[in-house]
Amino acid sequence: MTTTDDAVEATLERLSRQQKLSLVRGAPDPEGTATGYLPGVDAAGVPPFRLVDGPLGIRAEGERATAFPASIATAATFDADLARRQGAAMAREATALNQDALLAPGVNVIRVPHCGRNFEYLSEDPVAAGDIGAALVEGIESEGVVATVKHFVANNQETHRTTVSAEVDERTLRELYLPPFRAAVDAGVGSVMTAYNRVNGTHMSDHGYLLGDVLKGEWGFEGYAVSDWYGLETTVGAATAGLDVEMPGISIADAGDGDAELDDFEWPDGIPDGTRAGLFGEPLAEAIEAGEVPPARLDDMVRRVLGQMARFGRLDADGAGAGAHEVADGSRDDAGELDSQRHRDVAREVAARGTVLLDNDGVLPLDDGADVAVIGPHVDEAKLGGGGSSETTPFRSVSPLDGIEARAEGAVASAFGVTRIESVSLFDMLPFVGEEADDETGDAAEVEETDDRDPSLDDAVAAAEAADAAVVFVRDATTEALDRDTLALPGEQDALVAAVADANDDTVVVVRSGGPVSLPWREDVAAVVEQWYPGQADGEAVADVLYGDRDPGGRLPVTFASEETYPTADDDRRFPGVDGAVHYDEGLFVGYRHFDAADAEPTYPFGHGRSYATFEYGAAETGEDQTVSVTVENVADRPGREVVQAYVSPPDVDGVERPEREFAAAESVRLDAGERRTVTLSLDDLALSRYDTEDGWTVDSGTYAVEVGRSARDVRASATLER
Ligand code: GLC
Repeated sequence: MTTTDDAVEATLERLSRQQKLSLVRGAPDPEGTATGYLPGVDAAGVPPFRLVDGPLGIRAEGERATAFPASIATAATFDADLARRQGAAMAREATALNQDALLAPGVNVIRVPHCGRNFEYLSEDPVAAGDIGAALVEGIESEGVVATVKHFVANNQETHRTTVSAEVDERTLRELYLPPFRAAVDAGVGSVMTAYNRVNGTHMSDHGYLLGDVLKGEWGFEGYAVSDWYGLETTVGAATAGLDVEMPGISIADAGDGDAELDDFEWPDGIPDGTRAGLFGEPLAEAIEAGEVPPARLDDMVRRVLGQMARFGRLDADGAGAGAHEVADGSRDDAGELDSQRHRDVAREVAARGTVLLDNDGVLPLDDGADVAVIGPHVDEAKLGGGGSSETTPFRSVSPLDGIEARAEGAVASAFGVTRIESVSLFDMLPFVGEEADDETGDAAEVEETDDRDPSLDDAVAAAEAADAAVVFVRDATTEALDRDTLALPGEQDALVAAVADANDDTVVVVRSGGPVSLPWREDVAAVVEQWYPGQADGEAVADVLYGDRDPGGRLPVTFASEETYPTADDDRRFPGVDGAVHYDEGLFVGYRHFDAADAEPTYPFGHGRSYATFEYGAAETGEDQTVSVTVENVADRPGREVVQAYVSPPDVDGVERPEREFAAAESVRLDAGERRTVTLSLDDLALSRYDTEDGWTVDSGTYAVEVGRSARDVRASATLER
């Protein structure tokens, strides 16, 4: 046994039944900053333990922290090293704010383009989501903070999220929805958060098969499974299925956020009943007394929590409590780091590197001396993120206008053009929770009753006519707990783009969206840039890319297509579901897999993104160790960044339906002008195997085609692999 196991066992021995119960159910945080709090057991040397949101930065109540870009932007970098650095930075900020576990990353596969939380997720592809999700976990835990991969599993929409049953066949679960969580477990994630929804009829917090047999049994997960907030369905069902910690464990009325009249509050769809709490309190004690839950299960629950505390240096061998220690999985410095230049730089790098150049007729990069019109209803504020538990409040932020004014050498004019787009947030649906975010930073403050700036389309057109180039900033509005009802941009933004494009042939549109959106004017403008939600570094990052100081390194982790062509379109069974169940009838054919199978043309395919440079590919060559190598040359006269991608097409097997191709690996490389480099990619097993409900994981023998290229639809070289 290692010292951490010794410390855990020694501590467990010292705990009474009541003390054990206090470690599996949340309590009010006396400091009032944590999202979830375990009080610890001082007499036994178990310190308090704080859990905090979220994937875009630390959301400690009343505290500011670096606002990193949306997770989908991190995924769009296809750069695991960069994701690791972001994870480490977020963990340092958690430590600085006295938090012990970060409720991130969210890795649910992007199945529905309308899902309100796509910005918090990573990709439509399980390998792409797993690669970046695992890297974020490694980064977070390298700095001694517990990572929490969420939401386990099949939480792919917000509509009816607390009640809907995701009806998914076993093979699709195994090959598509479970792998990003498996990758996080293999990366050593210390905690898994269960989803609100049911899977095949059973609530995830009660799901003995997925929580017990798969997560803890097959995968050997040794950390703790924590509920989503107010996400427990039953006491005995959850405890015996394998749930270990109830959060927040206390009614919202007792958390000091709500008021006593909650009993008759109509909880909106997608919002859990905040008074349903304490199932792992007295009811669990009684269930153990009654023999419905074995005492050994309570010990296992506590052992898993103490195990993560010990792993990250919160528990000395003699149980003396936390301190600055060398810990099993990384160095933990109790001081942490907050809003440092290093963190600002990471936020800016991820935002710029995650920016995807969808189209460009040559207008980009902008000439330094160009006169520019900056147009859009929100050009004077950074687009930090979406609504809900991932909201951040940064110390500083840079608006698009600020960023371009700081970078441009020519004249810069600006015009709002149309009225503001109302931001939406889960917290607006809970009038009694949290404080209004303050004016200059938080999204909640963006909700304006009236737009008193009196925006004018004429002003926007005049500014565009007078400029060498017009840059229009448009946005969607998404939040946790709500799905979008259309992929069209809200408000009058499409009309604004059309009017500006009429006024200036060199019109660039910068889209800030949480996922796929409709771009009806894309053929009428000179360039289209997808910036996702760029976080605090918004204006700096967009100026970096628009002026070519950084090559647009992002590639699409999700397919952009016409709304009616997605596999979940126009079929209520598939989305948002009927009679309490949503049917994943499309099976494996989500995203590019669907468009390949349907032989349908997406607007912009998975993996797509242009560079300011030009890359030529040599021949592809497969290696013994399931790798593929290719030489890439930057034949332009400027540096550029290329994301070299590999896809695998399996041999045909009678009676077995498989996607035409599956993403298997990618590497983001920066090449100077004229530079050549041989890139070697390790092909993920998942892309070669399939899950057979009888035989389990199977790699069919035969010839596999390995395609190397710039996107799922832009193959530059291919080779074969025999199995
Ligand atoms: C929310 C979210 C989850 C978040 C938790 C705590 O409902 O689903 O992602 O971490 O509650 O805020």
